[in-house]
Amino acid sequence: MKVLFAASECAPFVKSGGLGDVIGALPSVLNKYGADARVILPKYSTIPKEFTDRMKNIEFFEVELGWRKLYCGILELEHEGVHYYFVDNEYFFKRPELYGYDDDCERFAFFSKAILKFVKGSKTYTPDVIHCNDWHTGLIPLFKREIFGQNKKLEAIKTVFTIHNIKHQGIFNKYWFGDLLGLYGIEKAWKTLEMNGSINYMKAGIIKADRVTTVSPTYSKEITNSYYGEGLESVIASLDQEVTGILNGINYKHVDFDKGKTKAQLQEKMGFEIRDDVPLITMISRLTAQKGLDLVAHVMDELAMEDVQMIFLGSGEAHYENMLKHFESRYPKNVKSILSFDEELAEKLYMGADIFLMPSYFEPCGISQLLAMQYGTIPIARETGGLLDTVIPYNHYTGEGTGFSFSNINAHEFLFTIKRALDVYKNDKPAWRKLKRTAAATEFSWNKSAEEYMRLYESIT
Ligand code: GLC
Repeated sequence: MKVLFAASECAPFVKSGGLGDVIGALPSVLNKYGADARVILPKYSTIPKEFTDRMKNIEFFEVELGWRKLYCGILELEHEGVHYYFVDNEYFFKRPELYGYDDDCERFAFFSKAILKFVKGSKTYTPDVIHCNDWHTGLIPLFKREIFGQNKKLEAIKTVFTIHNIKHQGIFNKYWFGDLLGLYGIEKAWKTLEMNGSINYMKAGIIKADRVTTVSPTYSKEITNSYYGEGLESVIASLDQEVTGILNGINYKHVDFDKGKTKAQLQEKMGFEIRDDVPLITMISRLTAQKGLDLVAHVMDELAMEDVQMIFLGSGEAHYENMLKHFESRYPKNVKSILSFDEELAEKLYMGADIFLMPSYFEPCGISQLLAMQYGTIPIARETGGLLDTVIPYNHYTGEGTGFSFSNINAHEFLFTIKRALDVYKNDKPAWRKLKRTAAATEFSWNKSAEEYMRLYESIT
């Protein structure tokens, strides 16, 4: 089974969130199951030199975008057993950020077209499936049919489209439809791409792919209703095949570590009192509304009055950064906010903290709760998407569970759930120990996901 993953990010080369982790992990696991999975992504100028130095130019050609013919180079790198292809065009990808530019519409149209052109012409690798991910690659299934529709080689290739986050859809002015995308006069294509009078890349991916998946079973159901569907719920509902939910995994390292010692080191580093009996709460997150930071804002004053210590790590929207800094200055004894993306510190926090906060408004899968649980760090999560599928709520009577959870987007429900956890932490040591053990023993490994993807690929090819 040959599967080409098309994505806008991939660890360890470039990553802004969970999407990058997934694309960086899944292909090599699929290869263990006999697949030949490869990845294609833009050659951003932010990819570290240690990787670009090792890339080989394999070909170049022109991609037509509207009236222009644009240079496109393809580079290849084999890294830890996986083949990666990089789409090179400095005008589009030599920039400090991955997304958020006025011409993103153009950049990812170029990327999608370049991939199809590469596959069409490649003599060395012809995938059975192109596995597209999120809006950046939504045009691939559409272009494959409408622009390269006559090509026998491409016709035989199937497409899978995975939704990692339906909130980001790639919505652009319809002005680009005819000229830039080269779809002028193709009425069918307009019907596929149009949503509320604008172009919508994700919609095209959902409609035109042979199969649509998302990253947890619960999210696959949630997006059929309007709160989670972000306007695309009717599109999802109109599909012949249901959206398949396949949970992401993590790579378990099974490292030896000393939780108490790590906690003490963290306390010292943060300038907190070094005490084993005070619960250390952490939250590691991109700072966006999705992650429930408004709930955090509402409960912080009450929470900081408790005998707890809190460490926030992450960067993102300025108002949340300001909010976290504000709480740190108000409660210097027990609140610390580190507004950066520091993987090393993140790892220490996953290991050394007692409690991990994840009050997301929605969470297609979520990876942090899994990273936390493997180290016996107990998640407090809202019951949505992948959080509902991976965190088993603590049962006071039976002692079962791997975390604590609450169902509504309500700051006080969140606060009371934290207080319930604190109560167990402080007053029922054996129950807390059992929670830690159960959480650490639960594995969400990539193997299971890979098996499910293999079955899915086989069912369509
Ligand atoms: C997005 C989602 C997150 C998911 C990740 C990888 O970042 O918000 O929930 O874990 O994609 O699929």
